[in-house]
Amino acid sequence: MHIGFIIADWKAIEPGKSSTLEIIKECIKRHYKVSILYTNNLTVRNNIVHGFIETVEPMKKIPPTIDAFYKKITFHKTFTALHAFDCLMLRKDPPINPIVFNFLDAIKDEVVIINDVDGIRKANNKLYTTTFHDPENLYLPLTHVSGSKKFIKKTIEESDAQKMILKPLDGSGGKGVIVLEKNARDNINSLLDFYIDKSGEKYVILQEFIEGADEGDVRVLMLNGKFIGAYNRKPAEGEMRANIQTGGTAHKYVMTESQMRICKKIGSKLVADGLFFVGLDMIGDKILEVNVLNPGGITNINRLDNLKLHRLVVDFIEEKVAEKVEKRAEMTYLMKRLNELRE
Ligand SMILES: Nc1ncnc2c1ncn2[C@@H]1O[C@H](COP(=O)(O)OP(=O)(O)O)[C@@H](O)[C@H]1O
Ligand SMILES: [Mg+2]
Repeated sequence: MHIGFIIADWKAIEPGKSSTLEIIKECIKRHYKVSILYTNNLTVRNNIVHGFIETVEPMKKIPPTIDAFYKKITFHKTFTALHAFDCLMLRKDPPINPIVFNFLDAIKDEVVIINDVDGIRKANNKLYTTTFHDPENLYLPLTHVSGSKKFIKKTIEESDAQKMILKPLDGSGGKGVIVLEKNARDNINSLLDFYIDKSGEKYVILQEFIEGADEGDVRVLMLNGKFIGAYNRKPAEGEMRANIQTGGTAHKYVMTESQMRICKKIGSKLVADGLFFVGLDMIGDKILEVNVLNPGGITNINRLDNLKLHRLVVDFIEEKVAEKVEKRAEMTYLMKRLNELRE
């Protein structure tokens, strides 16, 4: 089996923190061929999608620690047609150039892509949660999205909330997430000029400040529509964002019954949309966002709960690839029978 990982930068990987590296190590342990590739070297050569890929050189002994494993990895480069892969995992933080999805469209019938290209297209930014239809705000926070300064200003003026959240629609890692205090709204014009520029192509999210946010948020990992693990991220001192990138710290977390019910409720929709491996960000019973491109959390949950979640991910890849192989064999058989009947 040949598994490819579309990543941002191999050199920037931090062993011990990277979920992707844990998954890669598990694949190598299972004797799979593993390659990495970058979005900027996807190439079409005579109508066939290729990539300049870097394949992990076979290693006789796999070092037990993740640090040593990372250091030991060497690659050889080739120019390879992407349909040679059995599975491709997109492990690059958003925003991602939508052209990448068009490259992958050409191979998605042959290669298992996690997450599904059409699913990522749907869930490429924080608008995705609006497809959950929750008019009573049972599990979605009160959220407005707009590219109109007038609309956002009016909504803020009409609200009697003491605090609200303003954030970019396509942000990640906590970038640009700010709290708007009721008594400090003189800045709003300037802020909106920054978030919504003249191009008219930028949207901003205005959201209720969710109760309990000072205790941080919960990263919930969902695989094939089912809960597999969670941990709590507490914001650093003097910080409101709980993202690890903004200094958030990882703590053990036990999901509440109602959180589990919500995960179950949305699980089947995630699968129907081809979103097989995702990270939900939750505060209490509210879902903040669904991370579909490069959800982290495996290393923290493994450490805090003594689990090996990366194994479940690779089990799932195996399952999906087997499913695809079976489907292809069925198709070949049917075509053969059809031809025989015609003769
Ligand atoms: N509505 C909100 N109420 C309270 N805290 C919030 C809210 N929205 C975001 N945050 C805080 O900011 C962090 C980042 O927000 P999120 O919507 O997950 O965007 P990102 O994609 O940047 O991670 C959250 O994990 C949470 O700590
Ligand atoms: Mg988040």
